Amino acid sequence: MHRFQYVGKQLYCEETPVAKIAQRVGTPFYLYSIGTFLDHYFKLRDAFKPVDPLICFSMKANSNLTVLKALVENGAGLDIVSGGELFRAKRVGVDPRKVVFASVGKTPEEIEEAIRAKILMFNVESAQELEAINAVAGRLRTTQRIAIRLNPDVAADTHHYITTGRKENKFGIHLKTAYQLFMESYRYPFLRFAGVHIHIGSQITEAKPFIEAVRRCLEFIDGVRYAGKTTVEYLNIGGGLGIIYSKEKPQTAQQFADAILPLLKGYENRLRLVLEPGRFISGNSGILVTKVLYKKKGQNKKSFVIVDAGMNDLIRPAFYGAYHEILPVLRHVRSKVEKADVVGPICESGDFLAKDRRFPAAEPGQLLAVMSCGAYGFVMSSNYNSRPRVPEVVVSGRKFYVARQRETRNDLIRNEKIVREVLS
Ligand code: LLP
Repeated sequence: MHRFQYVGKQLYCEETPVAKIAQRVGTPFYLYSIGTFLDHYFKLRDAFKPVDPLICFSMKANSNLTVLKALVENGAGLDIVSGGELFRAKRVGVDPRKVVFASVGKTPEEIEEAIRAKILMFNVESAQELEAINAVAGRLRTTQRIAIRLNPDVAADTHHYITTGRKENKFGIHLKTAYQLFMESYRYPFLRFAGVHIHIGSQITEAKPFIEAVRRCLEFIDGVRYAGKTTVEYLNIGGGLGIIYSKEKPQTAQQFADAILPLLKGYENRLRLVLEPGRFISGNSGILVTKVLYKKKGQNKKSFVIVDAGMNDLIRPAFYGAYHEILPVLRHVRSKVEKADVVGPICESGDFLAKDRRFPAAEPGQLLAVMSCGAYGFVMSSNYNSRPRVPEVVVSGRKFYVARQRETRNDLIRNEKIVREVLS
């Protein structure tokens, strides 16, 4: 459930009319319901309460400082993937013992920053990365906890760009190789092999692939324990929980917990569960508000609704063919339904927010809400076509606040100069 709903003809975010915010900040803008973020986080936390998991919000999905702070204040940890995300994580004052660091390509500088920050754990993706972290930890005279990211080779029914647990993906370490690494853990004196990690993909709506992957992890953990490697204290099952964009019927947090918890029977005292949800917490907590600029009839009688937000603001439809529901901010009950493409101002045919969508006839000036944009929305936006990035606005109850300003024209050229030396 999310807190964007109609009251009469008007779309509200919590108790605030979306149109009122649009009037104040202009369009386009991202709009977040803080209550929805927290509600989703609490749902997951409560469902897994029997094992008291560490829930590390995967901040790649939404790294807005206010959003992060709200989650962190309520006990969430963070899953980071870069030095930049570590910087944001520190800025919101997260407890470093609740931070896990994934990424196939951590640089020595990022590794050092994270060790100095005393994060809980690195999720390691290769033997060479183990050596790199061991070297930095040794130089800093410390022991660092790591988890090995396994590639469990399970199929998850999702877009091929966002499946990550197959053997052909770049992620994780094959089980045999991972076992070997555990057996040779003595070669890394500054590392503690404290966990096993998986992340099998994103927008996965059913429990089956998770169950399969967790089983493989537990078998793996049993195997290394049997061989005398008893340092494994964490099982990190990643993120990937699917949400409703259109007609999906994803598992609820409770159904997910009901599927996973029985597998962990007997391990409760030896393994702490870690979860890395991104989309589940943030996806339906945000929308993108845009305004219709023009309407035109193409050839083949097709209509185009041209709006002021483009693929630089929300790339998911162009990149993954992703479906986002589009709703009028002010509902005119009698407006007739037509079929149209909703497109942005960018000079690419791939610049669309919706294709062949049956849609209440839109007229210039009308506000539209692109739904379910709280995950992988603003964070994947760019300045393509020299378009300043849009503001992020947060709502709590009846109040709204600009949590990130709209970029200015000067922001676009802030790091640039004209190199006169090449001009002669
Ligand atoms: N943990 C790891 C190691 C990950 O790589 C990811 C996401 C997550 C957790 C969080 O996954 P989630 O719970 O959000 O599914 N840009 C794509 C999604 C890419 C996901 C990348 N990894 C999209 O817009 O659909």
